[in-house]
Amino acid sequence: MNAVNGDLFGRDGAREPWSEWLGSGTVLLHGFATTDAAAILADLARIIETSPFRHMVIVDGRPMSVAMTNCGALGWLSDTAGYRYSSFDPQSSHRWPPMPDSFSNLARAAAIQAGFSSFTPDACLINRYAVGARMSLHQDKDERDFRAPIVSVSLGLPAVFLLGGAKRTERAQRLALIHGDVLVWGGQDRLRYHGVQPLKAGCHPLLGDARINLTFRQAG
Ligand code: SIN
Ligand code: FE2
Repeated sequence: MNAVNGDLFGRDGAREPWSEWLGSGTVLLHGFATTDAAAILADLARIIETSPFRHMVIVDGRPMSVAMTNCGALGWLSDTAGYRYSSFDPQSSHRWPPMPDSFSNLARAAAIQAGFSSFTPDACLINRYAVGARMSLHQDKDERDFRAPIVSVSLGLPAVFLLGGAKRTERAQRLALIHGDVLVWGGQDRLRYHGVQPLKAGCHPLLGDARINLTFRQAG
């Protein structure tokens, strides 16, 4: 074995997952989802057959640049009435597709790595970024109980993630999130502001010119 690569790279040359703490309750699990990505994307293809990506509108009627769908018992919604969770996909009036085991197992394992041993996600918001799509700085605060963390999985094209503090005015750190990275924030850090800068053009071998983000939450 190559002594230099021995610690950081697996036998196939892929980088081994490693954890980077970014706060008392915030950890970036580099490469944590890489092995499961293909299975997750196969399950995602089935989800979007019944609940396709759509551009939800915000309260003033303007569409978001990020396309979204959900799986799990609850799905996050935005429309002219505001933000909320619902058991039903308003496009079909049916329940959101169930959360596949590949999704929930990954989310639970990531939460455990971050020290949240009882995370049981009931909602997975699925965000699809085309080139130029962005998400402005916000807090995740539509959930009932803030004791559970947020588990956020990045797939496809890399993104610049803005990791702020508890106040909007706190200077945000810029994180490069690449395919397979999982960011977890909870506990004291649960209400950190965060956002995503406009997606840069590129071509990812599995997802082409897109980035997919899975955001797992315990919402209900
Ligand atoms: C979100 O905050 O809902 C999405 C974050 C991301 O796309 O990384
Ligand atoms: Fe968010």
